[in-house]
Amino acid sequence: SPSDPDLVERARAAKEKLGDKVFVLGHHYQRDEVIQFADVTGDSFKLARDAAARPEAEYIVFCGVHFMAESADILTSDDQKVVLPDLAAGCSMADMATAEQVAECWDVLTEAGVAEQVVPVSYMNSSADIKAFTGKHGGTICTSSNAERALEWAFRQGEKVLFLPDQHLGRNTAVRDMGMSLEDCVVYNPHKPNGGLTADELRAAKMILWRGHCSVHGRFSLDSVNDVRERIPDVNVLVHPECRHEVVAAADYVGSTEYIIKTLEAAPAGSKWAIGTELNLVRRLANRFAPEGKEIVFLDKTVCFCSTMNRIDLPHLVWALESLAEGNLVNRIEVDEETEAFAKLALERMLALP
Ligand code: 13P
Ligand code: SF4
Repeated sequence: SPSDPDLVERARAAKEKLGDKVFVLGHHYQRDEVIQFADVTGDSFKLARDAAARPEAEYIVFCGVHFMAESADILTSDDQKVVLPDLAAGCSMADMATAEQVAECWDVLTEAGVAEQVVPVSYMNSSADIKAFTGKHGGTICTSSNAERALEWAFRQGEKVLFLPDQHLGRNTAVRDMGMSLEDCVVYNPHKPNGGLTADELRAAKMILWRGHCSVHGRFSLDSVNDVRERIPDVNVLVHPECRHEVVAAADYVGSTEYIIKTLEAAPAGSKWAIGTELNLVRRLANRFAPEGKEIVFLDKTVCFCSTMNRIDLPHLVWALESLAEGNLVNRIEVDEETEAFAKLALERMLALP
């Protein structure tokens, strides 16, 4: 829906008043009404790098979800303030791994005698606590655009990987990109004693996958892929690696949100695409590329927004920008010093990946 012209004008005025003091980052899943005010848009990796590259901005307004704002705080200097326009913009996947559960898992791995061989690799979509755990135990962070390189790095440091918290990204990268087999992967369920695994299973596994997933991407099924191929015979199926393994295995192309955009930019006129990712992005791409004769449809028949990404709307953005312009620091995301030190170690290992 078109944005309220009054709010658009207020956002514009507040941003102008703040000038170089504010830098607005927008994840690709954000609403159009918000994206229009982003100084830079990107996937999780690009936004983390861009946040770190803005030392002159006093305020970083992060239009995305909580873990992204935390990462931006970790990667920026102490006098830069990161603001999340709605504090309720969390991520259900990130919430699936708590610090207590992960500490308990490490005890289970220690008990089974495998902890020394294990390198943790945590998806960006995790809390700062989990990133700190990762840094403390010699591991790295990854995003959907560098998961393969992160895993290659990890397997140079140790024999096994504990992959947190998205089992699908972990499995898809190991099996689809690195040639491991499904049998090399086991799933650690934090709600079961010992993760639901025996010591022998842990000893035999190469990839120990945390039982987490994205509720948005989890909705795409093999049926959605088969249906769209039937409806549009020459369609290309392009999905995000947070989708389930059978969906990724049946797709033609797999990659991060930034990869999805680049692939469609390079696609020839007349080509047809079914996209398996969040709906704000798919709609924006469908509108953008329709004039070039590229037909873009959503992979599933039912709509599928990320409800927490959608919490950042124009009224929240206006409120945050106007508050900052009036000198009121609102909704600051600040990671405590000790957590930050270890989490930064893990994030810097990611930024240094070849
Ligand atoms: P990317 O933008 O890194 O592909 O991540 C998708 C996502 O789910 C962010 O929450
Ligand atoms: Fe989390 Fe999924 Fe939303 Fe991304 S799309 S923020 S992984 S719930």
